[in-house]
Amino acid sequence: MPDNKLHWWQKTIAYEIYVKSFKDSNGDGIGDLKGITSELDYLKKLGVGALWLTPCYVSPQADNGYDVADYYNIDPAYGTMADMDELIAEAKKRDIRIVMDLVFNHTSCENAWFKESRQSRDNDKSDWYIWTDKPTNWRSIFGGSAWTYDEKRGQYYLHTFLKEQPDLNWKNPKVRQAVIDVANFWADKGVGGFRMDAVLYIRKPEVFKDGKPDAQDDMVAIHNMTVKQDGILDYLNEFKTKVISGRDMFTVGEANGVTAAELPQWVGKDGVFDMVFEFSHTQIDLPDEKNWSRRRSWTLPQWKSLFSQSQKQIEKLSNGWYPMYLENHDIARSVSHFLPDGAPRVQGAKALAALLLTMRGTPFVMQGEELGFVNVAWPSIDDYDDCYSKSHYEFAISEGYSKEEALEGVHRFSRDSARTPMQWNGTKNAGFSSSKPWMPIHDDYKTFNAEAEKNDPESVLNWYIALAKLRKEHSELIDGDYVDIMPYDEQIFAIRRENKEKKATILINLSSQTAFYDENLVKNAVQIAGSDGMSTKGKLSPYEAVVFEECI
Ligand code: NOJ
Repeated sequence: MPDNKLHWWQKTIAYEIYVKSFKDSNGDGIGDLKGITSELDYLKKLGVGALWLTPCYVSPQADNGYDVADYYNIDPAYGTMADMDELIAEAKKRDIRIVMDLVFNHTSCENAWFKESRQSRDNDKSDWYIWTDKPTNWRSIFGGSAWTYDEKRGQYYLHTFLKEQPDLNWKNPKVRQAVIDVANFWADKGVGGFRMDAVLYIRKPEVFKDGKPDAQDDMVAIHNMTVKQDGILDYLNEFKTKVISGRDMFTVGEANGVTAAELPQWVGKDGVFDMVFEFSHTQIDLPDEKNWSRRRSWTLPQWKSLFSQSQKQIEKLSNGWYPMYLENHDIARSVSHFLPDGAPRVQGAKALAALLLTMRGTPFVMQGEELGFVNVAWPSIDDYDDCYSKSHYEFAISEGYSKEEALEGVHRFSRDSARTPMQWNGTKNAGFSSSKPWMPIHDDYKTFNAEAEKNDPESVLNWYIALAKLRKEHSELIDGDYVDIMPYDEQIFAIRRENKEKKATILINLSSQTAFYDENLVKNAVQIAGSDGMSTKGKLSPYEAVVFEECI
């Protein structure tokens, strides 16, 4: 059994719920908290012990909840605080802890803090946000200037993302205390963890460079100017001490910009978080943050080396841990993202599942990933909801790409692909809602849905359930070391997980051709799982995944 010294969240599986799209209980076409509570048994079967909810606080929804107007209340579209208390309690009965998404780099412009701040230059909250008379030439992550002029105050305010998402001024100790109070409010409710949104941007450089706000060509990405500023760790250590220390919960930071070499400062006993989501392996095909129409080719050995670099760093740390993910609500579906066009969908999804659930660390599954969801490819940019997709499309057009080329980039990378409603069954609206869903359902819902897959022994869903069970029964898959045993192989991802008693060898063919390996690698081992049933030692069919085990 897993080493008891590990924390509960290191031994379990985490699952991300895009609240708006998981399950609608009241027929308004929008997912809600009661809907989630009604599906806890489904999640339990998947081995889930931590449930990350995307923000469900009061919000005008300019960025689907990542613009928070009131951190202390639930958005009426999602239910009430009583629904949240019920969800936390019902989840707990099933050994599932809720993980809240803390959005503290910015608020909504509808937040009372901002409403007060914009009133004048000398009110109580006048410096809770970042105001200037002279804006810099920074381009926001969602496109356009990162500064917006506020008529009322007669100054510009900074927003890393949309203009509806003004950045908080963490330099002000009162702001730091305010977010600490919010986090303690949720921690006191008994949630099991926090995912910290956009957290690398919370500290801004001391001096703003001279502004050239208009000429797009002269603009610089705000990410490059504000990510990981000196002193950020002081803020996060303060947060850790005043919120997390002494509690049985975990933190996972969204860390677009922390390199493998820097991990020791960020995770583990001496780091500020328990885990951080790195971006390197998901951005391997993205050469240019501004424009999705460009795409970089990559090889399996390059991809594998990214995982190995992180694993090597994490391994050295006391309590350092890795959150393994291939999907989330901001990126494409993994089958469409990491496998070549035309790869067989079910086998491909099963191969990726084997990787997700056998890597050292806590696997984070995105809703629908366990059903083998793929990207949507809607015919017009107007069909898309995601602001980021729209800005990439416009940017591509402004750079001279054709509409078709710009749309193809959106098809490949749009965040909407991960946000389409969950497919529960093959009835109208896929069992997600009794009325028209807020976002169209993928047109493959009659085949790819939870009910159909539950009844199909070869489905992606049943393979996930089998792998979740395997993790529970084979301790080396939880606490064993990680070694990439065939780093240069172009087809096979071969992982060794070993603890004091047992050694597992996971062999995953991530190519469309039969692949061969030295059968001595598993000479004395027995097969404990196989995506295609029993496997012939030394050989893997396209996208076949197999797990062998031997005692030491
Ligand atoms: C990262 C979140 O994951 C994303 O969905 C959001 O748009 C930005 N942060 C802004 O909060």
